[in-house]
Amino acid sequence: MTCKKSECQCGGNAAQDFSELAPVLDKYAKVPGSLITILQKAQDIYGFLSIDVINHISEATGIKPAKIYGVATFYAQFRLQPIGKYLIMLCKGTACHVNGADMIEEAVCEHLNIQDGETTEDGLFTLNNVACLGCCSLAPVMMIKTNDGEETFGNLTKDKVKAILDDYRAKEA
Ligand code: FES
Repeated sequence: MTCKKSECQCGGNAAQDFSELAPVLDKYAKVPGSLITILQKAQDIYGFLSIDVINHISEATGIKPAKIYGVATFYAQFRLQPIGKYLIMLCKGTACHVNGADMIEEAVCEHLNIQDGETTEDGLFTLNNVACLGCCSLAPVMMIKTNDGEETFGNLTKDKVKAILDDYRAKEA
């Protein structure tokens, strides 16, 4: 088994295919100050930064794994755990905040039994609170991202958000 993409839930326990990362490392491994760029591109490819990915980047760049891990944990943009099939990006920007984003977050957390940054046990949903999604007139807003694209939902209410999540779950049934 190989794990390449964000849908992989192996957590880095399977032998990993690094071929997609090779061009990135060819270009940036020896360029000083490129670690964040490499980590961003690795996360785009694999969905998260597994121990195997960090070790592989370490071998290519000569930067110690502990230092890479330190950088990856310092910046909120990096994920060290696999994400769910559906990444819920819940806007906590100002317009959404004043229009009830906290209440929407509560509804998502209750309905899926996860907190911000966590993934449901079935691996379907990950919740990430984010800053402004750029459609404040629709506040409160959330976006659901998959490997195939993204969908934005506005004017959310508790009931609406639960119905949306149920629809996604129903697609998997
Ligand atoms: S503050 Fe939520 S979309 Fe702008």
